[in-house]
Amino acid sequence: MERAVLEARGLRRSFGGIDAVAGVDVTIGARELLCVIGPNGAGKSTLVGLLSGAVVPDAGELHLAGTQMTGRKVHQFCRRGVVRKFQGTNTFLRLSVRDNLVVAGGGVEAHRLADMPDPDVVMEQVGLSAHADDLAMHLPHGQRQWLEIGMAIMCRPALLLLDEPAAGMSAGDTQRLVRLIHQLRGHCAVLAIEHDLAFVQALGCETWVMHRGQIIRRGFYGEIACDDEVRRIYLGRGAGHAAR
Ligand SMILES: Nc1ncnc2c1ncn2[C@@H]1O[C@H](COP(=O)(O)OP(=O)(O)OP(=O)(O)O)[C@@H](O)[C@H]1O
Ligand SMILES: [Mg+2]
Repeated sequence: MERAVLEARGLRRSFGGIDAVAGVDVTIGARELLCVIGPNGAGKSTLVGLLSGAVVPDAGELHLAGTQMTGRKVHQFCRRGVVRKFQGTNTFLRLSVRDNLVVAGGGVEAHRLADMPDPDVVMEQVGLSAHADDLAMHLPHGQRQWLEIGMAIMCRPALLLLDEPAAGMSAGDTQRLVRLIHQLRGHCAVLAIEHDLAFVQALGCETWVMHRGQIIRRGFYGEIACDDEVRRIYLGRGAGHAAR
């Protein structure tokens, strides 16, 4: 069996006495697709922070492809192929779309540069070919989101962590994102945090439910959506929240 991209045991992190992540075990297989759902404040972004090295755990250990990473810095996670797209946008505003992609692709180890993806292909994938020479600062918010996704692809991730990638997207863009994630799945593992349950349903993958810092359910979306406890803590909170 292919080795897991990421294995973590007993991950824990608290902020001012609140257990944001309260002892979580995670195994992510190569090219596995996962969704994490849960109410506001459940600890989803903190979990992604822990998995990407951006948040230092209070306890627990984490291995990437078998290498012990506990205590390592975020750039060391990045070099090992863990790429995180944040909640919000992070682009070089004064660079063109193409240059943003090239800079993103160059920020990896030299041996990985040899097989850096073609920026033109990635622009096509994220629907920005017509904007190759536009400065990022001139892109509307929605297109900047796509640019960021393109930048993440340029890093040739082994594990792509997406924190609410569909937030603020139109229904059409959300469908396109689902298609893109399915395409990426052939190349890397993807873990997506999402509130938009139509998006999670369309991804149709293993889904984890977080609540008060713990993963309380793991299963295929269809099973999760029928689970009484999940409905009580999350789905039952109202369509307005679920469809955010
Ligand atoms: N840097 C921080 N400093 C202090 N408290 C934090 C910090 N990051 C997270 N928290 C707290 O940890 C808990 C979990 O937050 P987290 O952002 O991980 O939740 P989330 O599931 O991503 O929520 P949302 O759906 O609103 O994005 C919350 O109580 C939050 O206030
Ligand atoms: Mg969050």
